[in-house]
Amino acid sequence: MTDRTSSSHTSPCWDDGLRSSLDPQRTTDRDVRCPATHPLDVFPLGASIPGGYRVLERVGSGGMSVVYRGWDASLDRPVAIRVARSDRRQGGWRARFVQESRRAATIRHPNVSEVLHLGYVGDVPFVVMDLAEGGDLRQWIHTEGTMPNLDDAFPILRGLCHGLQAIHDAKLVHRDIKPENVLLSERGTPMIADFGLCWDLTKPPELLPNDIEGTPAYLAPEVITNSVLWELAPRIDIYALGIIAFELLTGSLPFSSQPRARYGLLQAHVYETPASPSSINPSLGFAFDRLFGQVLAKSALMRFASPLEFLLALENARTRHAPKTIRPARERRFWEPTLAK
Ligand SMILES: Nc1ncnc2c1ncn2[C@@H]1O[C@H](COP(=O)(O)OP(=O)(O)O)[C@@H](O)[C@H]1O
Ligand SMILES: [Mg+2]
Repeated sequence: MTDRTSSSHTSPCWDDGLRSSLDPQRTTDRDVRCPATHPLDVFPLGASIPGGYRVLERVGSGGMSVVYRGWDASLDRPVAIRVARSDRRQGGWRARFVQESRRAATIRHPNVSEVLHLGYVGDVPFVVMDLAEGGDLRQWIHTEGTMPNLDDAFPILRGLCHGLQAIHDAKLVHRDIKPENVLLSERGTPMIADFGLCWDLTKPPELLPNDIEGTPAYLAPEVITNSVLWELAPRIDIYALGIIAFELLTGSLPFSSQPRARYGLLQAHVYETPASPSSINPSLGFAFDRLFGQVLAKSALMRFASPLEFLLALENARTRHAPKTIRPARERRFWEPTLAK
């Protein structure tokens, strides 16, 4: 598993301040002689960092962080180590990184990526998490191609709904639900990660930024028009969950039949009606069209009230449209109905 998301940034990386602040007991000669060679690298590969962790290989990166496969020497197991990118550290980043990690750590649920440890190399914080051996859901979608297999997609959707429900139950709004932020365990269990934009609903409303935060393809209309109602804020995530479900069940995005500029995409979220999923994937029935009409409703008020309510509707739509097959009479017992699922 190597990083597929890195870009060609020419930022400073393993700076002298960081290097000298490493615990000398743990720093090997190799770490000092072999600085990182990739512009995104914050830690040199092979470095030992406080807490008994060794940095092995870069497995991912996003807009804010770099993630490494690491080794936990004390428990003798692989872990993931996440650290802020050195070229994205603007005012207050340290406090935000710590706050985000603490918020993520409040949730213990099999479908939410678990934060195991918050440590520092000098004054640079890093978090240690469970390593997602299955990569992220974006990579899964690439491998799966455009012909989705519903039997594979449904367990992922189910896990996502449960994970998001746990996040909302903890009074948090994730605000960046998208396939890149859904990690998969070796067995394919989805785990929601990256709480970088998360809102805490127990705190006074956070000032809405002038800039639109989030990823254009997954942005709810009220985020784009800057008209979020604080009490309906979790429905921002439900909209994004609906877009992922659309993607998993049809193999395409509801508003991206052609490559669009960012502005066109934002306009589409606010004004356009998405394609009906059954017209893209005929194995989905009309019940799915109704369901997506509701989860992608322009008004947050009209959307499903919770991820579990959405899951229930998904399961109902699937049951209603599961292909019915008639088993030959000799295979049937006298008490069974004629139609078997
Ligand atoms: N625990 C993990 N195990 C394996 N890969 C991970 C893990 N956490 C993140 N990644 C990979 O790194 C990428 C970026 O991580 P993320 O936390 O989303 O950073 P950012 O805040 O920059 O978006 C993810 O999209 C995923 O591919
Ligand atoms: Mg991310």
